[in-house]
Amino acid sequence: MEQTAKRIGIWVFSGTGNTLKCAKALETALIERGVSVGFHEIADGSERAEERDLVICYPVYGFNLPRILKTFCRNLRGGGNVWFLKTSGEPLRLNDNSSAEPIRILRKNGYCIKGEFHYIMPYNMVFRHTDELASRMWETAQKRIPDAAERITNGEDAPIAAPLSAKIVSALCRIEHWFYPKNGRLFRVDPKKCVRCKKCVKNCPTKNITFENGKFRFGKSCIGCVRCSFNCPTDAIHIGLIDFMRVNGPYDFTRDPASATLGRYCRKSYERYFAGRQD
Ligand SMILES: Cc1cc2nc3c(=O)[nH]c(=O)nc-3n(C[C@H](O)[C@H](O)[C@H](O)COP(=O)(O)O)c2cc1C
Repeated sequence: MEQTAKRIGIWVFSGTGNTLKCAKALETALIERGVSVGFHEIADGSERAEERDLVICYPVYGFNLPRILKTFCRNLRGGGNVWFLKTSGEPLRLNDNSSAEPIRILRKNGYCIKGEFHYIMPYNMVFRHTDELASRMWETAQKRIPDAAERITNGEDAPIAAPLSAKIVSALCRIEHWFYPKNGRLFRVDPKKCVRCKKCVKNCPTKNITFENGKFRFGKSCIGCVRCSFNCPTDAIHIGLIDFMRVNGPYDFTRDPASATLGRYCRKSYERYFAGRQD
């Protein structure tokens, strides 16, 4: 018989806030169900979770998960239940294998994988969604998160099934874990636009950006989270070889979700997601 979860550790990595927003909503929904929650943001992956049962929250990067999460999972030794909460910009099934690597690591470390919850949130890379669509995504996530909280509270499964295409694509894209630290060295600050607020230096999760002798320096530990360029108030940060995919500035999630329209790109996948279908 399944044991009801009494204490849950929510462990979150979020580059630009989408995953954090969903994780916070999950925390609230679990607390409403009488669960005691430890809420933690993952800073560098070296953290040790003291809770047995965990929800590990991350944004999908290149059909996989951020490198920092792999480090975090390697350090875990608790042997309880694990659920994943992930966010991504596209509802494509190619994202469905992103938890495969941590699942392997965690099973080896004695954990029982219960499944994952996947919410579509606006793109912080590649292209910008409209604020209306961002609001619709957030509205949808908020409607679905209570179901996740219910399942976690009851110790229930949330099965993951990745098609072969997702397995192949995510395996090929793992090269990104090698790419981001190299590409991070190519980041540049446009001196004409920069106002020296140093928000990028203060907020970089891996402390990869420094300001010395009047110059910004980018080290070797970039994980590609784009927190620096996304939040730059003057859009002054160029992000190397992936600059053509740069998205700048936070979304306004307070627009009318009902007025959101879908473009042609991945239209069917978004429709399927909003309709709540699993096919
Ligand atoms: C480096 C990078 C790679 C990404 N790769 C994917 C991807 O493969 N599939 C996808 O749907 N979204 C992808 N995204 C979009 C994010 O997963 C999405 O916007 C997510 O909600 C961001 O969460 P955060 O705000 O918590 O960082 C990528 C974003 C970044 C920065």
